[in-house]
Amino acid sequence: MNTESTKTKVAIIGLGKIGKAIAANLTKGNHPVILASRDSEKTKAIVGQLGNLAKACEITEALQIADVIIPAIYFNALKEFFNTYSTELEGKIIVDVSNPIAPDGNGGFKKIIGQNESAGEILSKFIPPKAVLIKAFGTLGAGSLLNASFSEPERKVLFYASDSINSNKKIEELLTDSGFSPFNIGGIDQSIRIEVFGDLHEFGALGKTVTMAEAEKSAHQL
Ligand SMILES: NC(=O)c1ccc[n+]([C@@H]2O[C@H](COP(=O)([O-])OP(=O)(O)OC[C@H]3O[C@@H](n4cnc5c(N)ncnc54)[C@H](OP(=O)(O)O)[C@@H]3O)[C@@H](O)[C@H]2O)c1
Repeated sequence: MNTESTKTKVAIIGLGKIGKAIAANLTKGNHPVILASRDSEKTKAIVGQLGNLAKACEITEALQIADVIIPAIYFNALKEFFNTYSTELEGKIIVDVSNPIAPDGNGGFKKIIGQNESAGEILSKFIPPKAVLIKAFGTLGAGSLLNASFSEPERKVLFYASDSINSNKKIEELLTDSGFSPFNIGGIDQSIRIEVFGDLHEFGALGKTVTMAEAEKSAHQL
């Protein structure tokens, strides 16, 4: 990884489908990434595939180095993750990609929190001191996140929700470097709109990737 980079230091923790897709897009956009998972051999193998903009770390070290942390893990595991690493996460920008869903037994998915609740709002109450939570990167499936990045002639949108105006520049840099146009849908209380089943999610009323003009129209339809 280029240690002289002036880019925002970002760590992706958890290298499943979405973690790998975010890492691949960021490196494609020339943005260095710090990667960590519970399996250091797996982390090294993925870093090997991504090239020299990716750096493998243990989870604790990754959290210490980075300013923005993307735990690409399941909603149900996030509260414990915040507790386990509360010291390292203090003062950090934490990006919540999670969708609070589980298989419904009929080949589909069901929401595992109340119909009017969002993962973003729930998790924002559990983050460590001085940390901020931003909801982003989870509005598309991993396939679309990869396939729709760096779209030509016009980029597609990734929505985000944030209560921290001071942090928005960093999240917008990351969304841009991963090949999308950032679109702020409002505060964390708007998270439900950009989670699965929400009106602005690929697996909700929106149903597809959208350009900025389409996003503007959809976002103001409520
Ligand atoms: N897949 C999608 O299309 C998609 C789209 C939008 C949002 N999301 C959200 O992204 C998150 C991850 O989904 P995914 O599809 O990427 O799942 P996945 O492919 O099953 O990967 C989940 C990863 O989380 C790691 N993990 C679980 N608990 C952990 C912990 N306590 N500490 C560190 N790592 C942990 C697992 O690591 P191990 O290998 O060590 O078990 C695994 O690599 C979910 O919240 C999901 O709702 C997914």
